[in-house]
Amino acid sequence: MTDRRSTPAVLFVCLGNICRSPLAEAALRARLAEAAVEVAVDSAGTGSWHVGEPPDPRAQAVALHNGHDIAHYRGRQVAAEDFYRFTHIYALDHENLAELQRRAPADATARLALLLDLVEGLEGQPVADPYFGGEAGFHTTWSQVDRAATALVDYLQGMERLKG
Ligand code: 4NP
Repeated sequence: MTDRRSTPAVLFVCLGNICRSPLAEAALRARLAEAAVEVAVDSAGTGSWHVGEPPDPRAQAVALHNGHDIAHYRGRQVAAEDFYRFTHIYALDHENLAELQRRAPADATARLALLLDLVEGLEGQPVADPYFGGEAGFHTTWSQVDRAATALVDYLQGMERLKG
């Protein structure tokens, strides 16, 4: 029910906030712009190693390949206030979902979910961490987060229709 009353705001969370979640953020921003839907979007990491850093060069390259410049994004760590500021927090994999569930304040208002649960046929699957692999992994990441972004726009448009 809270969904129907609050303005949606979406946060994507991975481990480092330099590979997967910035790509999810870029994909959703692009799909929202295409659909002319305004929703707050951000990304963060459960880890703190890359706070203040731009996305991994391979993530920047795959984003640019798909028409999106993410060089200005900067890594940040999930904070307690995120569990209230965002209506929906999507974890890129099960480990980060478990970590979010562990850190969520008891009265958190955000709904936590696994990102690929939004994608028909990919439910229950993680967006694999491409950090230690080759460039191909980043293209797989992009295609998965972009499918999730498309599904999310539909879902968010549905929420907007239910409001008011
Ligand atoms: P991300 O990828 O969680 O998709 O941003 C990683 C980035 C950094 C590390 C691991 C995964 N790391 O170990 O530093």
